[in-house]
Amino acid sequence: MGVCERFAGSWRRFIVISLRLLFLLPAGLPVRSQGDSQTDNKVMDNITVRQGETVFLSCSQGDVVTHTAWLNRSSILYAGEDKWSVDPRVTLVTLNQEEFTIKIENVEMTDEGQYICAVQTSSKPRTTSVHVIVQVPPKITELSKDLVVNEGANVTLKCLASGKPEPSVSWRLLSPSDENIGSDDEYLEIPSVSRQRAGTYECTAVNEVDTVAQTVELMVNYPPTVLEGRDVGVTLGQRGTLECEADAIPEADFEWYRDDRRIFNGFDGIEIEDAGGLSKLTFFNVTEADYGNYTCVAINKLGSANTSILLYEVIQPTSSTLLQVETTSVLQMTSSVLAKTASENIAILEGPGAVQDGNSGSTATYAPTCLLLIITLQLLLKF
Ligand SMILES: *[C@@H]1O[C@H](CO)[C@@H](O)[C@H](O)[C@H]1NC(C)=O
Ligand SMILES: *[C@@H]1O[C@H](CO)[C@@H](O)[C@H](O)[C@H]1NC(C)=O
Ligand SMILES: *[C@@H]1O[C@H](CO)[C@@H](O)[C@H](O)[C@H]1NC(C)=O
Ligand SMILES: *[C@@H]1O[C@H](CO)[C@@H](O)[C@H](O)[C@H]1NC(C)=O
Ligand SMILES: *[C@@H]1O[C@H](CO)[C@@H](O)[C@H](O)[C@H]1NC(C)=O
Ligand SMILES: *[C@@H]1O[C@H](CO)[C@@H](O)[C@H](O)[C@H]1NC(C)=O
Repeated sequence: MGVCERFAGSWRRFIVISLRLLFLLPAGLPVRSQGDSQTDNKVMDNITVRQGETVFLSCSQGDVVTHTAWLNRSSILYAGEDKWSVDPRVTLVTLNQEEFTIKIENVEMTDEGQYICAVQTSSKPRTTSVHVIVQVPPKITELSKDLVVNEGANVTLKCLASGKPEPSVSWRLLSPSDENIGSDDEYLEIPSVSRQRAGTYECTAVNEVDTVAQTVELMVNYPPTVLEGRDVGVTLGQRGTLECEADAIPEADFEWYRDDRRIFNGFDGIEIEDAGGLSKLTFFNVTEADYGNYTCVAINKLGSANTSILLYEVIQPTSSTLLQVETTSVLQMTSSVLAKTASENIAILEGPGAVQDGNSGSTATYAPTCLLLIITLQLLLKF
């Protein structure tokens, strides 16, 4: 004999005893406890109800019902119209020749189980049992807090959920959205986390009743990297701005250097402005002394990076400056010719052969064209 049968047997015995007590059955009435052909036991389909809702329990009566009762496990809820239960959620709906219906409002998890309708007719007792299954929407009971970690750390996100039926839990990277990052598990393991894995993670718990979701922010700190600086050309007296862009979390602080000297905001005619990972060094009126090599250093608690930017002079291409450039170069050429002539005049006077024997090739190239001029000058100097 199986456990179930034994259980069913003891149930039957129990019901009979209950009914005896309840209905004060005459002791002589032929009520047998096991294998009783005179007792009609019926099992109804399971009733599934959601937590908080109302469930109706109904059983049919019959022609000559003398006594009837609804039981929750071992306790009587209603005996006929008499309420035995002290639970205010349990009330009588209908009791007549056809049916006996009670209802349980605001159903709780603990209400789950077997309910029995016991009916005593003039001929034989009859029981109808029904199993009430209570479903509970999922609820996230434990969730990782928002996290700030350094790049390379091993991260585990945790999401525990309760509910009936047992909810299935999953993780995904919500923003920036990435289908490939996630897990169908209560735990999401991210070994050696990279900066690309930072973002908003969503934990979802699903069962037949409902779906719930909550999010966790994962922040990944990393040291700065700076974009290669672009050299900037500015005309004397004009405004000039050097820009330095850094990528870092937490956001980088910037330092500017001219060669090895630190430059501070508020220095004469200089302004340093930092915002959103970008630092700008502005010269309101570029002077000759400002031209040079500048270094921008981006720093956060994990490290630093730097780049060098050249501030160089640009001559404005107006017609007057163009003319100036030409005149200057002509004058420079003449003076260099004169300087060379001073040291080589003896050689030149000695003849072209001596010039070709000299080490300087460039002297040799321009010498013939200027020969006339030089000779003229020398003649002039002699007088
Ligand atoms: C009723 O529920 C019980 C317990 O969950 C289960 O063992 C049984 O198979 C169900 N019966 C039906 C008919 O669904
Ligand atoms: C049914 O019985 C269980 C166990 O004793 C109890 O926790 C629950 O509140 C009862 N439900 C009703 C509706 O009486
Ligand atoms: C991460 O886990 C791996 C493997 O378990 C281990 O070798 C490594 O040291 C861990 N890294 C950190 C930063 O804890
Ligand atoms: C820039 O500075 C020079 C010399 O100090 C001055 O002559 C000139 O007016 C200034 N230019 C501007 C635009 O302020
Ligand atoms: C500017 O200075 C940095 C460091 O002081 C140096 O590495 C770099 O070569 C310099 N750039 C130029 C163009 O002189
Ligand atoms: C700039 O970075 C180089 C290595 O990339 C480092 O050697 C140098 O010291 C840094 N300069 C400053 C001013 O931080």
